[in-house]
Amino acid sequence: MAATTLTLSGRAFASPPETLEARPGTARLAPAEYEPTPIWGYEGGVPGPTLRVKQGGRIDRRFLNALPQSSTVHWHGIRIDNAMDGVPELTQTAVAPGGSFDYAFTAPDAGTYWYHPHNRTWEQLARGLYGALVVEEPDAPDIDRDEVLLIDDWRLTEKAEIAEDFGAMHDWSHGGRIGNWITVNGDGYWASTARQNERLRLRLVNVANARIFSLSLKGLDGWIVALDGQPLETPQRAGRMVVAPAQRIDLIVDVTGEAEASIVSHERNGSYAIATFTVSESAASRRTDPAAPLPPNPLPEIGPLESARRAELLMEGGAMGGMTGAMMGSRSMDMRGLVQQGKVWAFNGRADMPDEPLISAAAGETIRIRIENRTGWPHAMHLHGHHFRKVLEGGALGAHRDTLLMDREEIAEIAFVADNPGDWLLHCHMVEHSAAGMMTWIRVA
Ligand code: C2O
Ligand code: CU
Repeated sequence: MAATTLTLSGRAFASPPETLEARPGTARLAPAEYEPTPIWGYEGGVPGPTLRVKQGGRIDRRFLNALPQSSTVHWHGIRIDNAMDGVPELTQTAVAPGGSFDYAFTAPDAGTYWYHPHNRTWEQLARGLYGALVVEEPDAPDIDRDEVLLIDDWRLTEKAEIAEDFGAMHDWSHGGRIGNWITVNGDGYWASTARQNERLRLRLVNVANARIFSLSLKGLDGWIVALDGQPLETPQRAGRMVVAPAQRIDLIVDVTGEAEASIVSHERNGSYAIATFTVSESAASRRTDPAAPLPPNPLPEIGPLESARRAELLMEGGAMGGMTGAMMGSRSMDMRGLVQQGKVWAFNGRADMPDEPLISAAAGETIRIRIENRTGWPHAMHLHGHHFRKVLEGGALGAHRDTLLMDREEIAEIAFVADNPGDWLLHCHMVEHSAAGMMTWIRVA
């Protein structure tokens, strides 16, 4: 039931907000011959409920923590009020077991977003705490159906239980917690039906701790219309799609398969259909019009790059990275000392959250950050509260994103308008990496 306001004899009484409870539960991740897997989920399920709101509308949710650990909710990709961003220590105190926190905010941009904890994320996300947040365009695009597909990567034991080896230093220093069981919407064999020549909007969200997915379509043909929630000015043909942790891709596709259509994940050891549509015949003929661009969101215009305020971020560490040490607080530590503290990566020579922001911006300033990945691993760099654009060769700007996949040894530059006041994280979304040192923040006055 939606939160409502009753007006009685001229006085307004607000009813209590709807709740969103994080609690233990079970989910059928694996086939029927296995017991359901014990998980932690919003409302006890995987995924949590899909929250839908019209663009500019409000989300009002009382978060209830029925977990045995403190937690928060982060609304990934929403250009949100800083106090609602859900980052322990930075924007709020983590909610203790049995406690609650009222999240209330407006969603300025239409698109596909998601929510997840921001405390011990490397454990809580891996246990199943995530859900989609869909912000609807004022006028729905011309499609027959809308499907949200949350793609996850679990590490399960032979009994289909979640492996409890959270915090394993080998994962933290390598590619993060990579699993052995892929699900879509909490199902290892996600399946649905479709009619031939139907036009679908598919909202793909990578909710895995660390796995980068490489996807393609079979029996589905169409366009990428948005990345990380933000519409592309010109939709692109959907071919092979790389989706890093936390990234989203919105597709508009026509069902062209005769009997079946699927989303295929290309893994090192083979290619697998992770989501399948059984296609039934229909009288409808194939549409010839390409997907129209989605209406743009009210994002600020990036100012001249030459006069932008600049910062640099050097990423170091990890296995085979050759890092010899980093600062923790006021102490310089060698690798052995860092590992004892659970740290193995560093941003600008520091393995813990710095006291000082990477950058202090005046509201409305254009910022550019040069990021150098001097490690042997790819990373998914996420900025809170803003969307940025990659500065391409010659000064052109890439698509708006909130998470940037960086290749090993890559140097990239991002630019954005710091228009959202508050303290915002900038971190790797391979959540083991951020816990082990890949975390900093910016301040917008
Ligand atoms: Cu999706 Cu800092 O998080
Ligand atoms: Cu990383």
